[in-house]
Amino acid sequence: MLSCLCADNQASKMPRRFFVGGNWKMNGDKASIDGICEFLKQGPLDKNVDVVVGVPAVYLEYVKARLPEDVQCAAQNCYKEPKGAFTGEISPAMLKDIGVEWVILGHSERRNIFGESDELIAEKCCHALDNGMKVILCIGEMLEDREAGKTEEVVVRQLTACAKKIKEWANVVVAYEPVWAIGTGKTATPAQAQEVHAQIRNWMKEKISPDVADATRILYGGSVSADNCRELAKQHDVDGSLVGGASLKPDFVKIVNANVK
Ligand code: 13P
Repeated sequence: MLSCLCADNQASKMPRRFFVGGNWKMNGDKASIDGICEFLKQGPLDKNVDVVVGVPAVYLEYVKARLPEDVQCAAQNCYKEPKGAFTGEISPAMLKDIGVEWVILGHSERRNIFGESDELIAEKCCHALDNGMKVILCIGEMLEDREAGKTEEVVVRQLTACAKKIKEWANVVVAYEPVWAIGTGKTATPAQAQEVHAQIRNWMKEKISPDVADATRILYGGSVSADNCRELAKQHDVDGSLVGGASLKPDFVKIVNANVK
């Protein structure tokens, strides 16, 4: 416990390291993956940025073998149990077994297409973290929530479910992804992103701890492109981005290099 507190205190004194995630979703084949690995190798990628790409499970080992050293691989999902009769699922233990340390959890497509509840996502996060994984935890409101003025209420509800189960936040990166901005070309304005990021950080300060609020990276996701990434990255509480479509293209390198703070 003491060592955890020390780690938090130290982290709070350091600036948050810029983080760019690529979420490939259910895209790619070996030929196109070779192309992505090639442009990542060519880079050059800013050494002061953590870069993690979320890869379809079936290609994780293939990608891991081809990525440059400074780019890490994430799974796009995992289950809340170590093993057993859960056909079609993969466990954190399996991911660790093949050397994958990161997992994306709570993506809006998991929530909205596959019906994953706040509770299930919280259990998955807890199990993944307890098993030594690092988690990109996605949260975000639907268009009707935003139009009803419920954005903060929704992200707080999603976070609260996780906070009830997560004991240690050092290995969590939060990605705020407004659902109306995902894959639509309709990015949140830098001011809209900053407003919600500040609400998330404030909530963390009050409900978890000031140290966790200071140290936790909060990424923006939703139609991030080479054109809008710098303005988003300038915002005080935006610590990077989680990129869908543009992570499949060489533009991703520009987004990684948009660390303007
Ligand atoms: P797009 O960048 O394609 O909008 O996707 C964002 C996303 O869902 C990343 O997880």
